[in-house]
Amino acid sequence: KASGNVTWCIGKDTSGAVGTVVDSFNQANPEANVKLLELPEDAGEQRRLQIQRLQAESDECDVLGTDVIWTAEYAAQGWLLDVSDFISQNGDRFIQSTVDTTEYEGKNYAVPFNSNAGFIYYRTDEVDQAPQDWEALYEQASQGNGVVYQGFRYEGLTVNFLELLYSAGASVLSEDGSEATADSQEVRDVLEFMANGIDSGAAPKAVTTYKEEESRRAFESGNATFMRNWPYAYALGKDSKIADNFDISTFPGYKGNEGAGVLGGYNLAIAKFSQNPEGALAFIEFATDPAQQKLMATEASLPPTVTEVYDDPEVKKAMPFAEELRSAIEQAQPRPVSPVYPQISEAIYNNVFAALQGDMSPDEAATTMQEDIQKALETF
Ligand code: GLC
Repeated sequence: KASGNVTWCIGKDTSGAVGTVVDSFNQANPEANVKLLELPEDAGEQRRLQIQRLQAESDECDVLGTDVIWTAEYAAQGWLLDVSDFISQNGDRFIQSTVDTTEYEGKNYAVPFNSNAGFIYYRTDEVDQAPQDWEALYEQASQGNGVVYQGFRYEGLTVNFLELLYSAGASVLSEDGSEATADSQEVRDVLEFMANGIDSGAAPKAVTTYKEEESRRAFESGNATFMRNWPYAYALGKDSKIADNFDISTFPGYKGNEGAGVLGGYNLAIAKFSQNPEGALAFIEFATDPAQQKLMATEASLPPTVTEVYDDPEVKKAMPFAEELRSAIEQAQPRPVSPVYPQISEAIYNNVFAALQGDMSPDEAATTMQEDIQKALETF
């Protein structure tokens, strides 16, 4: 039933699995043709390039791969078609937390495509087991070969910071989203912890230039004992020269609390200016069905959004941590939901970055973060 051309604009296909989904769709639907338009790896850059097209009312992208944090902004701008009908018919098969990320003001504007939750990767030939808490992890990292993470000035740094802050039981916004709550002792402590990590050499100074791929390459080249990364790095790691020498574990605790995760992932949305919304929806239906979700999990350890896929024996074999992953996704906390989320995140990562670089003290960075988030909130 699918027909016509569909262009899918999504971030770089690091694993190749996204291309496989496109090929299988095209094979199964001879009357239709999906073309992949790959955007840069950095989520902020992807958003910038999508928005450029949306503001120009361009019809180039039919299906948008949208980071879970963009739904509110894109929907508030009127850039996405309402897919509430699709979700009310098919929503049950997805993990609830992933469906929540598609919602804005009671309607659904996207379909969950791949989910995400961070994990600790560790070298089994250097340490016996994953450390119990972040404090011990940093301690062992400074005695060993270090810890790498995403410390560049971009969205990934916001995630890395919030993982620690949520573990400390704090957040940067009030529950109703109306006020910044970054002027806290917890924010100061986390900033100090991260900055000390670099000063003490537990994390190499170079982490301030790392996004996901740079961290993965450092870990795979044997230049780190620990790495914080998403599950996609598992399949690639099992295909690298350290294949037999690493394992992965759920997040450690922090300051006596249990570890907390931040929900990541991408949804598929139909751009308002698409000339082929039916074709776009048919493709989205295909890409989010259990068979394709299984393929992405087994080929590339991309976390499925479909609940039952985690019980599949082949998925469990390819991702021995499937059970933990599903609970991590169920329990992960969302980043602040707001049409001005990108500005809020900028207020977070700019100041965390300044603290990591030693350009601001943790105290100054917390104060400035508070002011910058407050300003971001006032723009809406
Ligand atoms: C991953 C996550 C996404 C997050 C990004 C940060 O792609 O899926 O939600 O924003 O990393 O770098």
